[in-house]
Formats: sequence, structure tokens, C-alpha cells
Amino acid sequence: MEFYNILETWYLKNQRDLPWRKSSNPYFIWLSEIILQQTRIQQGLDYYYKFTTHYPTVYHLANASEDAILKDWQGLGYYSRARNLHFSAKYICNELNGVFPSTYKEILKLKGVGDYTASAIASICFNEKTAVVDGNVYRVLSRYFNINTPINSTRGIKYFKELAQELIKEANPKEYNQAIMDFGSMVCKPQNPTCTSCPLNKSCLAKAKNTIDALPVKEKKLKIKKRYLNFIVFDDGTHTVIEKRTENGIWKNLYQFPLIEADQMIDVTTLVKNTILTNTHQKDIHLFNTDPIIHKLSHQHLYTQFWIVNSGFKNSEYTKWMDVEKFAVPKLIHNFLQKYKSK
Ligand code: ADE
Repeated sequence: MEFYNILETWYLKNQRDLPWRKSSNPYFIWLSEIILQQTRIQQGLDYYYKFTTHYPTVYHLANASEDAILKDWQGLGYYSRARNLHFSAKYICNELNGVFPSTYKEILKLKGVGDYTASAIASICFNEKTAVVDGNVYRVLSRYFNINTPINSTRGIKYFKELAQELIKEANPKEYNQAIMDFGSMVCKPQNPTCTSCPLNKSCLAKAKNTIDALPVKEKKLKIKKRYLNFIVFDDGTHTVIEKRTENGIWKNLYQFPLIEADQMIDVTTLVKNTILTNTHQKDIHLFNTDPIIHKLSHQHLYTQFWIVNSGFKNSEYTKWMDVEKFAVPKLIHNFLQKYKSK
């Protein structure tokens, strides 16, 4: 409660003078929130004025051409926002008789509206106690309560939403949500927050523990690596060739068809240049799957092609097809074998 009381007192004195705050028309608030989704307030202002002037009601927006809307959106980026606005305006006019939905749950159904935007509109226009959690909120809460759970982890997203939801219970939802966002962008800023004059500094846990600069914590998302695997499936009718993988990695000690890994998708000409296939004629090779099979692992996507080769066995060890199933193979190969057998 102390948190909210201080925040509200601060907000009443310091809130930004923003045009959409003069309205609780959900159509205008919706426009403002969509415009501000990936845009700074300063840049968004002109677009807000333009849209509320050119399309003063949801019917104006619904009846406009997509070309006109996109033209007005020009310069703002992320054009799907404009297309979704148009789509949803038509939905509101055609399916909801032009009446803007009035609960978080219904607002969430609009295309282009996620948890943040639905919470903002429901609280600002309909006083519903739905807490917004944007970058500002993550920063303020993680610092005030000294929480180091990564804000972009599944656990973090759930935790912060629940915490915010707990805090809004005591508050006036419209003011609380806008207060915490303003506070995050004006006081509890990402860099150089003004802690010395911050009204919450006496009870801020991160301030006490000197962890302000380390919060909020963001988990580094590993970059997904693309790999291009070409399995060579020799087949003379009764035999094939399989090998054991010995290198460390997810498939260590499993069996596979001879593998040619490339740094991009390759064609048969490039393939036959490989030593495994020196005695093979190009005409004896065909692709089992013309589109690569994309096998998704947590940190890599495997673009896989199975090349069926009917001549030019060079490898010393042959395995009877009927014995192949005795070997442990990666799932990717297991799936291939199922399909290949049934052909
Ligand atoms: N950023 C996006 N919407 C906002 C709002 N209503 N108040 C403050 N900051 C915001």
C-alpha cells in the first residue's frame, strides 16, 4: 500500500500531459496504445493527432482504404500494427455494432492486442483491475522489490504479472497503471535513475542492496544456429551404410547414414564432389525429400536432406536393411526410416 500511495501522490503532481489522457473513449485509447507499442511518446504524438483527425470514429477507420491508412502510418514502422487496426475496426463495426469491447477478455480478442494493450485499455477506459506490465513496469518492480528473476523468462513473465496484479488490487486501476509507466520513464529510468530524489527511495530494496544498475535481469537468448545436413542413403536393394557418431554432441554414439554437413543448402553437383561419392554418377542420386525437413532443437535448426544413392558404394561396411532397426538412431533418422520403408 505504501508503494501505491507514494506512487499516486507522485503521479498527481508529475504526470505527463498527454492528449489521450483527456479522453476515456476506448477507441482513442486503443489508437494511442497501438501507436505507442513500438514508438516513443514524442514520435507517437503526431500520429495520434493525425489518426484521431483523419479517423475520428471507429467507423471512419473501418471504412477507410488500407492504402490510406498505411500512408498515414508511414514513417512509424511495424506496419502490421496499421493493418491490424484496420482489421479490428471492421470487426468492431461489423460484428459488434460499432461498440468497443469493454472487458479485458473481450479486448484481448482484437487482432494486434496482447496482454499489455488489453490491460491498458480495460483499466484506463473501464476501470478494470488489470495491471499493465511493460518495460517500465518490469524495471520499477524488479528494483523496488529487488527481484532478479529474468524478465524475459517464462517464470519471470508470470511472476511480474502476478505481482503487478496483486499491487493493482489496492489501487485506482487507471491511475495506477499510468503512474507506474510514467514513473518508470521519468524517475526509475534505465540509465541514471534519479534515486536521490526518488520518493520511493527509502523503501526501495535494490537501493538498499545497491543492485539498481543490475536490474532488471534479462536472460540472454541463445542465437539459433542453422545447420544443413545431407544424409547419404546408399541403397542397392538389400544393403545400406550406417556409421556410428563419435564426436561429442547431442547424437554422440548414435548411428546415422554418412553425413555431409554444409554451410548452406547444396545441390547434387556440389554433393558428388564429396569424397564419399567419388564413384557415383549424378544420375544415380535423387532426393528423398525435395523440401528440407526442418528438425528443431533448442539451440539449432537442422535443415535436412536425405539423398538416395543407388550406385557407387565405397564404404567398407555394409548393413542389411533388415538390420538397420537394431541400431539406435536419432529421431530424425528414425522418422525418415519409417517413411522410407513404407514407400
Ligand atoms: N506508454 C504507453 N502507453 C502509456 C500510457 N498510457 N501512459 C504512460 N506511458 C505509456
